[in-house]
Amino acid sequence: MRGEKVLELACGPCFWTQFTAAVAESIVACDFNNSTLLQAGHKDLPWERVSLQQADAYDLKTITGFFSAAMAVDWLAHVPYARMHPFLDGLHSVLNADARVVFCDQLPKSEPADGDHDADGNFIVVRQLPDGSRYRVIKHYLSDHQIQDIFGRYDDNVQIIRFPNCRRIIVSYHIQNG
Ligand SMILES: C[S@@+](CC[C@H](N)C(=O)[O-])C[C@H]1O[C@@H](n2cnc3c(N)ncnc32)[C@H](O)[C@@H]1O
Repeated sequence: MRGEKVLELACGPCFWTQFTAAVAESIVACDFNNSTLLQAGHKDLPWERVSLQQADAYDLKTITGFFSAAMAVDWLAHVPYARMHPFLDGLHSVLNADARVVFCDQLPKSEPADGDHDADGNFIVVRQLPDGSRYRVIKHYLSDHQIQDIFGRYDDNVQIIRFPNCRRIIVSYHIQNG
């Protein structure tokens, strides 16, 4: 993201934004939920280069500006397969023609990960909140094959880097055929 004009999706309270902001030229950080943006607003960010905007990642028509890159952390893993390409096509449509796109997600705690699949093939995990309520949440742990299957149509050279020590995976590509 160094030197880039970044669109960050699903930024939450801007935990990662604060690090990206140290190297990016500018960031428009978006989230669907205003409550998270409110928290982000209290952070000590370089506000002359960072702005917050409420936006639905599946419907980015309210987003305007020139973006040479896009990123999202802990977002892609929650996108239902049925919405994956509409989401990516919508994202690419608001970016510069050869923009770099970076998704960072988690690696599973165990192999194979605990969970089951729904009828559409989405991997489902159960999340328990501190109040004891339990939710079924889509959480993909994508294989290289699945990643190529999703992103190969946009770039012939999709990069996949896994960081087992911190249980992270980074997928990045340049829009070529978007
Ligand atoms: C797992 S959190 C990740 C937040 C942040 N990227 C981070 O890593 O700290 C997922 C975020 O997606 C946001 N979100 C959920 N649905 C969304 C949507 N349709 N469009 C944009 N953001 C959405 C939630 O509000 C939440 O902040």
